[in-house]
Amino acid sequence: MNILSDVKILVTGSNGQIGTVLIDALRDRYGNENVVASDILFPEDQNGPFEILDITDSSRLQEVIQEHKITEIYHLAALLSSKGEKNIQLTWDINFNAYFQILNVAVANNIKKIFFPSTIGVFGHTTPKKDTPQFTSFIPETVYGISKYTGELWNNYFNKRYGLDIRSLRYPGVISYQSIPVGGTTDYAVEIFFEAVKHKKYECYLKADTALPMIYMPDAVKATLDLMSAPTEKVSSQSAYNLSGFSFTPAQLAKEIQKHIPDFQIFYSPDHRQQIAESWSESIDDSRARNDWSWSPNYDMAKMVEDMLANIS
Ligand code: SER
Repeated sequence: MNILSDVKILVTGSNGQIGTVLIDALRDRYGNENVVASDILFPEDQNGPFEILDITDSSRLQEVIQEHKITEIYHLAALLSSKGEKNIQLTWDINFNAYFQILNVAVANNIKKIFFPSTIGVFGHTTPKKDTPQFTSFIPETVYGISKYTGELWNNYFNKRYGLDIRSLRYPGVISYQSIPVGGTTDYAVEIFFEAVKHKKYECYLKADTALPMIYMPDAVKATLDLMSAPTEKVSSQSAYNLSGFSFTPAQLAKEIQKHIPDFQIFYSPDHRQQIAESWSESIDDSRARNDWSWSPNYDMAKMVEDMLANIS
């Protein structure tokens, strides 16, 4: 595809759960050759430019930006909440130090726009659990949450001080069939589908009644593209926007899956991730995104379950 575009995008962490899907959506919109994917390993297939990039290496980052005349960066490389607790230094280096370098390199190279994925992990026990507001108490309890919340603060700073246009979403758990996420606390909501189709049973590492906010991948991609293309005057938060599709507990999700696979069984054996989940919100008030740039999800839980099972089966 050859689309005339003055936008040249670099996506870091493009092999991850969101990257693999977002890359295709960006290439459909801006043309394959205008979206440079990057990660630490070559992916299986790729229909556009790809660079090996370890995001902690700022001189390599600079090189890739200059070589491809990059104008926008989507910084998806990150370690998630559960894996992050196993290596706090590496998580801080990747999720925050590397991001801080990106912000500085962006200013030095006149980058026009940055996308920074934040998370419901920025919330903590002091945050209201239901309909969590955009502005609230933030005392995150994982290194993942701390690194992402710090990123949000620096987004605001770089925007005010250097005029860098940074856009960010607090993704809830993202559900998709294209790949299984690794190292997160919300991963169960993806694994459960693959196990339901293959083995008709799933052992869940969260308790039955642990509600968490979630979103289906097509909506997560839509929100990302809509926010990134929203006119600047519509963007009232350069630190991050609350975002949500729907909320459910493992028991509610299992019940919905049973409507399609009646003999599906779920068992519960909570592990360390239970504590992380309990420090997060149960539901999110994303009215600011709805008001500012007309955010509205297309999928509810039932529609998502139907689509996941159709694609996995
Ligand atoms: N999906 C992430 C995690 O579970 C939350 O943003 O760590």
